[in-house]
Amino acid sequence: MQIEAADAGRAPAASPKLRLAGDALLRDAVQRVASRGMYVPSWPGLNPRLLFRAGPAREPLFPLNAPHRTYAYVARSLIYHLFRTLSMGNGSTVLVPDYHHGNEIRAIRAAGATLRFYRIGRDLEPDLEQLESLCRSGARALVVIHYLGWPQPIREIAALCRKNGVLLIEDCALSLFSESRGRPLGSFGDHAVFCLYKTLPLPHGALLVQNREVLQPLDELQLPPCGFLSVAARSAELMLEWTRSRWNAPGKGLFAMKRAAGRLLSAARVRRVPVGGAGFDAADAGVGMSGISRRLLGCWDYRNVRRRRRRHFRLLLKRFSGRVALLPRSLEPGMCPLGFPILVRDKGQAARALWARGIQAIEFWNLGDAEAEASGSSEAAFLRRHVLELPIHQELSPSQVEYMAEQVLSLDACRAPE
Ligand SMILES: Cc1ncc(COP(=O)(O)O)c(C=O)c1O
Repeated sequence: MQIEAADAGRAPAASPKLRLAGDALLRDAVQRVASRGMYVPSWPGLNPRLLFRAGPAREPLFPLNAPHRTYAYVARSLIYHLFRTLSMGNGSTVLVPDYHHGNEIRAIRAAGATLRFYRIGRDLEPDLEQLESLCRSGARALVVIHYLGWPQPIREIAALCRKNGVLLIEDCALSLFSESRGRPLGSFGDHAVFCLYKTLPLPHGALLVQNREVLQPLDELQLPPCGFLSVAARSAELMLEWTRSRWNAPGKGLFAMKRAAGRLLSAARVRRVPVGGAGFDAADAGVGMSGISRRLLGCWDYRNVRRRRRRHFRLLLKRFSGRVALLPRSLEPGMCPLGFPILVRDKGQAARALWARGIQAIEFWNLGDAEAEASGSSEAAFLRRHVLELPIHQELSPSQVEYMAEQVLSLDACRAPE
């Protein structure tokens, strides 16, 4: 943008068309150079100091202070254990949203439950009338996903479940530290599952809380922690993200070395338990959270995590209002946003263009569970085609967020869907 202003005074008598083309070329070149210096990772990186020096003990926030907690390597394992402990293996019906990641659905199915999908609209909310009639039709449990930190109408849903004797399970994989009117998400349901590593720079980690009738076997479940290599590999990656986010060029080189080391380990068939990937393997459901993740959990000021995420969300909202297609949702009080969703015409193209500029945008849930896809609504299909998630985590600086806004606004690929 500054280039346009500087050039304007000095421009020779070139035709306006030629000048516009020249400006566009120059702007593109500058953006490419600038992107070499800027890297905006999807997830918060890990400050290496924290591995060696635990910070002062922080006041824990729900769910980290919930009385009945069970930890695991990833959230899908806890979902699997929960539904197994609830004895859903006899084909009990569980209501699940048609807009989902896929791993949570696979874990519930692997536990033996029969799934029924309910619709999610473009505002990311269910149709309460449909939920009510499904609850009345003999379902045993209802799973609610709070998308990207946005609370569902959870009081109404909880009342509906109580009225019909249906268990309420909150999937808070994407909504750690989010609240609805002053009360934390995950405290409304009978049970709630959180993914810790999506909000905090942990190598892995997930948490299940039980709020009402406590299932003893689940409360006492102690899963053996994962092996050293699984922790070391992911921790190294997070530390490299932290370095690259600040010093892109050396960080990039270190990343290349880390990838080469990973390839060597794979060639030697050294197995590491994956984190964040797609799929559910019951053989991995017995893996627990490491001591390192537990220790790191005490290191952050969680209110500050929420404050910074909200600040970045507001920054993008201000820059995008009226210029970028957004979901019909606002930043609600107490919400801890996981990402900033935008609607783009061609998600793959937009993501590639942003990656080329150092911005690790996430193609949010391109593909759901095959059974839901077959019977899914057009609303879920629209969200899968067009929602692109921009990072706004606590480790970003305002200048990284500003850089991201500039890139999105300048890219043709980020235009709104028709
Ligand atoms: C809504 C939702 N629930 C559950 C999960 C499972 O989380 P994890 O990767 O920790 O198993 C994910 C992500 O995979 C998710 O997006």
